[in-house]
Amino acid sequence: MTSWRALGAHSKKYAFIAATVLLLTAGCNGEHLSKAVERGQRRLQDQPRTIRLGLLLPMFGTEASGFSRFSWSPRAGVYQALREINNKTDGVEDHLLPNTQLLYAYRDSKCDSSVALQGALHLTQDVFGGAGVDVIIGAGCSDASVTAAQVAASVGVPMISPTSTSPVLSRGRAYPYFIRTAPSDSFTAEAMVVALTQLWNFSSVALVHSSDAYGTGMADVFLAAASARSLTVRTRQTFIKDAAHFSLQHRGLIEAESRIIVIVCPTSDGSRFIRTAFEAGIGGEGYLWLSGDTMAESGLWESDAVLATDLSLRERLLRGFFTLSANGQPDGTAKYDSYLARRQQLPSTTGDGVTCNLETDDDGTLLWAQDHDANASTPLACDGYDASTINLYDPKHSASTRCSQSPMLCTT
Ligand SMILES: *[C@@H]1O[C@H](CO)[C@@H](O)[C@H](O)[C@H]1NC(C)=O
Ligand SMILES: *[C@@H]1O[C@H](CO)[C@@H](O)[C@H](O)[C@H]1NC(C)=O
Ligand SMILES: *[C@@H]1O[C@H](CO)[C@@H](O)[C@H](O)[C@H]1NC(C)=O
Repeated sequence: MTSWRALGAHSKKYAFIAATVLLLTAGCNGEHLSKAVERGQRRLQDQPRTIRLGLLLPMFGTEASGFSRFSWSPRAGVYQALREINNKTDGVEDHLLPNTQLLYAYRDSKCDSSVALQGALHLTQDVFGGAGVDVIIGAGCSDASVTAAQVAASVGVPMISPTSTSPVLSRGRAYPYFIRTAPSDSFTAEAMVVALTQLWNFSSVALVHSSDAYGTGMADVFLAAASARSLTVRTRQTFIKDAAHFSLQHRGLIEAESRIIVIVCPTSDGSRFIRTAFEAGIGGEGYLWLSGDTMAESGLWESDAVLATDLSLRERLLRGFFTLSANGQPDGTAKYDSYLARRQQLPSTTGDGVTCNLETDDDGTLLWAQDHDANASTPLACDGYDASTINLYDPKHSASTRCSQSPMLCTT
């Protein structure tokens, strides 16, 4: 169910998103479901129609997070799936949704609850000349999904997230229109406790987490699981997402005298937290950090300006850093390999060094560039990826590439 691995989260997320769209449109598991889909498709054959999708996924963070760029580009997964579904002559799922055109409108959820709330309102009420969307794919972060799912529920628009893993979102009554393709963090939190107690035989740890839906949701499950397995949690330190500094929490960790620290929070906070902790004397040789899926990606060092550039600091600091994340990847299947090969052939969306790629969604919003600081005097910031350097998910390949960049534990 879960596996140790350092990275590869990027393409995991891409795959989830592509799967999201495919599930959304094909939606078939059991036999009678697929019959129903066949019947539906026969009916659709005579009836051309358009389905409007809303994409609510992060590109840049808010000002509080320093406008940090999300190192994985989930829009790419949706982009690929939409292109392939809409193209009936490319040999990829050409039978899917005959006579149907998928249109999409994008809003940046910024991993933020209030921005995602606004985004969901725009998508459901304003886009496509006020017609709104039929369904939302998103959000990325759990906190963003919580508010967006409330909007979705209020207007009866289904919403499906590739990456929002907080156990909070399992509450069907609170979020009746929300589903997700990533498993709940309940699994990861319990697996963390099993690893700490069964694999490493630790009897006590410290816990630090953000107070958003992701951090709190996972921490609650962790504490319950720890209690059930007699793992002592010496201290529970919390901080607000995008906090200016963490000195109080660092002091709390020092006072608890634990060298085993579980950290659960968004990536940009996490990398800043562990870097400033190191400066305060916590971490490195003799310490073990254990985190969940948000830090199982290169954003762990890329989203902190110091860690991104100081390789020697990174090497000292990430000694003994472990992440645990659920692996839903159908690794090694022919279908998956072919999907990744097609991914590598997508055009680069990073811009040409002077201007960004200015491709828009079907409603005129930029897909790979943004006035990320809401200041018209500064240039647009480019997002996107270079398809030729895309990180294919192969645990061994991924581990060896990443291990050369930082000495994390990279394999099972
Ligand atoms: C559809 O796919 C085919 C085969 O890859 C390609 O030649 C064609 O340009 C695509 N059509 C569009 C509209 O992208
Ligand atoms: C686990 O730790 C306890 C003490 O905390 C010790 O008694 C026990 O032998 C250890 N087990 C293993 C397998 O190392
Ligand atoms: C917008 O950017 C310009 C140019 O960098 C800068 O001088 C100005 O202070 C910025 N405005 C705000 C409101 O931050």
